Amino acid sequence: MVPPTAVATPGQSSQQIGQVNPDGPAVKEPAKDTILTPRFYTTDFDAMAAMDLRPNEVELEAICEEFRKDYNRHHFVRNGEFDGAADKLDPETRKVFVEFLEQSCTSEFSGFLLYKELSRRIKTKNPLLAECFAHMARDEARHAGFLNKAMGDFDLQLDLGFLTANKAYTFFKPKFIFYATYLSEKIGYWRYIAIYRHLEQHPESKIFPIFNFFENWCQDENRHGDFFDALMRAQPDTVRGFRARLWCRFFLLAVFATMYVRDVARKEFYGALGLDARTYDKVVIEKTNETSARVFPVVLDVQNPLFWERLERLVQNNAQLSAADASGAPAPIKALRKLPYWAANGLEMAKLFLMKPIRSEQFQPAVR
Ligand SMILES: [Fe+2]
Ligand SMILES: [Fe+2]
Repeated sequence: MVPPTAVATPGQSSQQIGQVNPDGPAVKEPAKDTILTPRFYTTDFDAMAAMDLRPNEVELEAICEEFRKDYNRHHFVRNGEFDGAADKLDPETRKVFVEFLEQSCTSEFSGFLLYKELSRRIKTKNPLLAECFAHMARDEARHAGFLNKAMGDFDLQLDLGFLTANKAYTFFKPKFIFYATYLSEKIGYWRYIAIYRHLEQHPESKIFPIFNFFENWCQDENRHGDFFDALMRAQPDTVRGFRARLWCRFFLLAVFATMYVRDVARKEFYGALGLDARTYDKVVIEKTNETSARVFPVVLDVQNPLFWERLERLVQNNAQLSAADASGAPAPIKALRKLPYWAANGLEMAKLFLMKPIRSEQFQPAVR
């Protein structure tokens, strides 16, 4: 797959988001790619360009008008609170917090690359869509840049230019991009706002000033999610019919299960904020599921205790897989040790997928 050229585009470049300065902080080696690390996406740009927006053009135009207002233009400005804040963290908290910053920065940057490339490639053929993507790329560039600056407080920096050129790109057809990005924007909204509201109640757990920025920040993600909601309504076949129902279930499950396993594995970070990772994820998953019912034809039955039991089994299997990875055994032995847990994970995911979903059409405005 040809990597997007977005970083070299004038306007928003890796220089603004976080260029590596030879005299600056140490460049952090990117985290090893696993099934749980954020991905970079590319898609069928011609199909995107040819998309007919007429079924929901009025709503898309209204969302674009909101983007043009650029509510957070002056929001992401660092203040004196950041001075010396990094030095106050103990070594263990520092480690998990830097991991959080890295993961968040990579996800935000992945959004930037995809949106920027989309806006560039469909500019002449689908100007409204292109403009929406350009505004969203602007927001994600700010988010990624702000996170990368926070990493700089820990004398580390992500080399985003290197990441652009060297990370593997996953190809998704446009409708899969819609499901995946819609969910990642909405889950991002709930993740940020849940942390923000918790820290509002527990200011003593605010370990770093970046959390003060989460309230306005998550509104960007919410608007981005609303854009994909409107886009799916403009292409009603993406959220209508038997196949759409299967795919929506699949994406909901993939996103929820990945987040749950990943967050429980780094529960120390949530602990440092005074949060229990499992409780936090449960709230975020329930809220995202509820929100998704506004556009997806089905959502998952997250009130069923079996759903959570099965997620816990994934967590246990994942812990065994990590233990096998960490052992000093030769690669074939490791693979042999891991095999039963991979199989068990596959089986749990299949069982989760086959759980009866909840039809959500009745909760939706009558656009379809
Ligand atoms: Fe973002
Ligand atoms: Fe976003």
